[in-house]
Amino acid sequence: MEIVKIENQVSYHSVGNVEDFPLHLGKVVHIEGGPEIAVFRVAERTLYALENRTGHKKGGPLAEGLVSGEYVYCPLRDCKISLLTGEVQLPDTGRVSVYPLRLDGDVVLVGERAANEASEG
Ligand code: FES
Repeated sequence: MEIVKIENQVSYHSVGNVEDFPLHLGKVVHIEGGPEIAVFRVAERTLYALENRTGHKKGGPLAEGLVSGEYVYCPLRDCKISLLTGEVQLPDTGRVSVYPLRLDGDVVLVGERAANEASEG
């Protein structure tokens, strides 16, 4: 996918238009050379991008998880994960990689470098 914007040394890739992402659901997108990414649209123009797997063994696919507010519930073990920070909420632990996401008009752009680091939990 072509690089459409570079900001703070992060290359942003177009992954579709806002309307391509159903409200309160996750959708898998691909960035060349990067991991599978799950994009969640929680409000008209509020979207988040997380790696489509958790740090846990066989974690994911997060895009199939239930979205509630600014959290997604992992479909495997029901862990609650923040869409903003990727932090797995207690009593579970761990962190999912979060990718920067921008809107350029109605075009959804995802940065190719995670804003945080995945960790085992
Ligand atoms: S296996 Fe799903 S969050 Fe840990």
